[in-house]
Amino acid sequence: MASLSDQLLELFTSFSSRLEAAADEQAVRKAYADFGGPQGQVRLKQRDLLKAAPNAEKKAIGQATNEILQKIEAAFAARLGATVEQAARGDLERTVDVTLPGRARPLGHLHPITIARREIEEIFAQLGFTVAVGPQVESDFHNFEALAMPKDHPARDMQDTFYVADVDDVVLRTHTSPVQIRTMLAQPPPVRIIAPGTVYRRDDDATHSPMFNQVEGLCVDEGITFADLKGVLMHFAQRFFGAGITARLRPSFFPFTEPSAEIDFTCTFCRGSGCRTCKQTGWIEIGGSGMVDPEVFRHVGYDSEKYSGFAFGWGIDRMAMLKYGIDNINQFFDGDVRFSRMFRS
Ligand code: DAH
Repeated sequence: MASLSDQLLELFTSFSSRLEAAADEQAVRKAYADFGGPQGQVRLKQRDLLKAAPNAEKKAIGQATNEILQKIEAAFAARLGATVEQAARGDLERTVDVTLPGRARPLGHLHPITIARREIEEIFAQLGFTVAVGPQVESDFHNFEALAMPKDHPARDMQDTFYVADVDDVVLRTHTSPVQIRTMLAQPPPVRIIAPGTVYRRDDDATHSPMFNQVEGLCVDEGITFADLKGVLMHFAQRFFGAGITARLRPSFFPFTEPSAEIDFTCTFCRGSGCRTCKQTGWIEIGGSGMVDPEVFRHVGYDSEKYSGFAFGWGIDRMAMLKYGIDNINQFFDGDVRFSRMFRS
């Protein structure tokens, strides 16, 4: 039979290889229990040997087995520490996977009205127009009076106005035309501006919202004619809506222009061949325009003998509806980013 120390060494070697093979903390603990634990092989061997040995040998047996138990204990502790640490590092690597692509933050999207407004601004900027702005809470003078609509003028009925409570002569601007007045009061001719902005009227249905957006145009200089107006509008129509779309002018009336004209563009749906939208005419109404009335020049101190000018105005919302085929204006104001995302920006 092998000597005591050989037998114990063999047990320790078996334990070492079990420990070596243990893949996780549980397996390490199991290997220890199987060899070093109270029911482990070393204890069992110790008990058997002690039972069979004469008293004189018991001390040596006890010492030798305890030494092995201590070695097992030490190897177990070291291995357990390493395994736990490795597992923790593994968890960390799994949590922070530096090879993962970053998480994208959800971005908003430009509103279709903003997209349309910027495109309008760009087209006119290339014609030498600058962008002017004015207040949305406006005086009666700028919104009506200086535009040749004195109090009690019947043309005021065309625009159902929100009045600012308790303040005399203060309104929510019903159109962007007051920016014409503000611009001319602030600078001498020549003037070439467009004025995009929000306006308010007491209207509310599928094609009218109480709050909507217009763009105003104003060009004043020596020798400006009706032909300049038409040329600019024709150019804009085909730049904004594409080849085949042009503009025509129809006689009309606005208090602040003389002569005045309604602006029609080629129908953007049938491109002029006639459809339900254009009532088979091939044209759709876009806005108003005309030559600046001398009465307006008088209010801002411009010499109407020396200078002439054209002006125009239309709804940006309507323009965007036509361009993108939107049939209900309220979709613009629902604030649903999924709607905005449908439009290229
Ligand atoms: N301000 C008018 C409106 O809101 C539109 C308009 C008509 C503007 C003729 C103009 C113009 O500049 O010349 O109904």
